[in-house]
Amino acid sequence: MNDFIFQNTTKIYFGKDQLGHLGEEVGACGTRVLLVYGGGSIKANGIYDDVMAELEHVGAEVFELSGVEPNPRHTTVNKGADICKREGIDMILAVGGGSTIDCAKAIAAATFYDGDSWDLVIGKAAVTNALPIVTVLTLAATGSEMDPVGVISNIETNEKYGIGHSLLQPKVSFLNPEYTFTVNAYQTASGSVDIMAHVFDMMYFTMKPKFDMIHRMATEVLSTVIQYAPLALKEPANYEARANLMWASSWALNGFLGRSGDFPTCHKIEHELSAYYDITHGHGLAIIIPHWLTYILTDETAPQIKKMGVDLFNTDESLNDIDGAKVAIAALSTFFFDTLGLDSKLSDLGISDKDFKAMARNAAKGGTLKGFIELTPEDIEKILIASL
Ligand code: NZQ
Ligand code: ZN
Repeated sequence: MNDFIFQNTTKIYFGKDQLGHLGEEVGACGTRVLLVYGGGSIKANGIYDDVMAELEHVGAEVFELSGVEPNPRHTTVNKGADICKREGIDMILAVGGGSTIDCAKAIAAATFYDGDSWDLVIGKAAVTNALPIVTVLTLAATGSEMDPVGVISNIETNEKYGIGHSLLQPKVSFLNPEYTFTVNAYQTASGSVDIMAHVFDMMYFTMKPKFDMIHRMATEVLSTVIQYAPLALKEPANYEARANLMWASSWALNGFLGRSGDFPTCHKIEHELSAYYDITHGHGLAIIIPHWLTYILTDETAPQIKKMGVDLFNTDESLNDIDGAKVAIAALSTFFFDTLGLDSKLSDLGISDKDFKAMARNAAKGGTLKGFIELTPEDIEKILIASL
């Protein structure tokens, strides 16, 4: 088992009647607030009004940055940082899904940088300070509500990278499952896959020694998604289903399940797809993961892949490792594409093979991708082609 450090400083208010604490938490950070949100879902479903009412109670002076894109752009981060600098903002309140929260994190850091926020994302400049961030989560998927990373896209250069720093960890996050009742079927399905992919990529599939308790907890997080995502699709306002998905989203990536230290293979490959094609992150992952597992299936990897099937989908334990692994991959595919209803091919998303070579090279950062199994750019290209 690897040595590790665990620290997670985000305070969570979980449940339906917790927003009454928003004012005091915002007030503790200051009075001038930048409210960051996306394309308007929070206005349609009433969350905006709930939040504004709480901010009014404490006399907060609210400035707004709306229109944060799914796959948020560095240009939007720059706009937000300009407002923070110009208006002397004390804190950022992000109300939305991962994109909105990620954008808020990058703004928080860019406020203390005199230049293009993209420099911070690519590491050309270091994060030295950040405004405090409070979040109200509206979509269960990324874990951004409880982690120190934001993922930002540069559509001019077809690049998408994470900006990570302990200063970007949200101070407080409000998790009200009712706020996810209006998430549509497609985003519910994609978000559910993203939760599972965090567990798979960060620690579940690895050649490194396993820590049994953590592996058991990880299996439970995965099983929770498998149980409740279909229920949330069938009954979007099922509180139990939404609550389980929401808490699974946070725990998949808040550090509790540890890190294998491998490169998160499927995430690296998917970020190339969304950088070039602006697709929904979780959907890209759903298509890549089964093809990745099939490509790397060997005598060495088969036992872990087979175990995934046995533990999560009750597949036949008596099969030999290779056959058991194939059945496990088939069960996972059935879950993604039949149960969750996601399209199964990259071509379904309008993606062609024209940039696969460059994507594969970028995903491996010019070297190799050292994940569960080390992949060369040629390997990655083959996985992409198989996913078409
Ligand atoms: O923009 P609005 O109008 O809010 O609509 C959003 C958006 O269209 C909508 N939505 C969100 N909450 C809703 C809702 N619609 C109805 N009711 C609600 N309650 O859903 C759409 C997608 O939202 P988005 O925030 O883009 O989704 P998600 O939370 O999946 O975030 C995806 C982004 O996070 C990154 C992804 O790469 C992608 O850019 N990731 C961030 C990570 C992190 N910070 O640690 C890790 C992840 O692996 C991931 O890379
Ligand atoms: Zn993800």
